[in-house]
Amino acid sequence: MAQVKVLFVCLGNICRSPLAEGIFRFKVKEKGLSDHFIIDSCGTSDYHIGENPDKRSLGNARKNGVDYMHKGRQLKEKDFYEFDYILPMDELNINDVQRIRPEDATAKVLKMRAFDDQYENSDVPDPYYGGENGFQLVFDILERSTHNLLEDLVEKHDLG
Ligand code: 4NP
Repeated sequence: MAQVKVLFVCLGNICRSPLAEGIFRFKVKEKGLSDHFIIDSCGTSDYHIGENPDKRSLGNARKNGVDYMHKGRQLKEKDFYEFDYILPMDELNINDVQRIRPEDATAKVLKMRAFDDQYENSDVPDPYYGGENGFQLVFDILERSTHNLLEDLVEKHDLG
């Protein structure tokens, strides 16, 4: 069976991208499409390799009905051939991703918030240095964005 391979990317891989991975995985499972997807996340930095997601992200997600786990890892060249879609969270991530992207990369790089119908094409803000409101804002953005991403992929790859 052909699988669609999706990689979410942020800076630290402990707040935004593991949450995007967790919400997206939840939605994919809800639709009974788990066998059709490979889903992962990573960071552009090496700051939090091997770490669990930020406790504030995990707690906020649980309040919103989503449970997930992930071990931090850094983006590598191989990812540009192994994944179909790479989804950076903000402009800084995009710049870092483009810097290490091999010329013959097969993955499409698409900004996460291009899928947010409320604030199209702006950043998923980094919640790391902020308070609980920031984590809820990120959850809401990723809830909308992953919903629309999944709808697009289901249609594009004929999974419906
Ligand atoms: P993330 O948030 O990129 O959404 O995982 C951050 C986590 C850690 C740091 C920055 C952003 N940091 O500088 O350690």
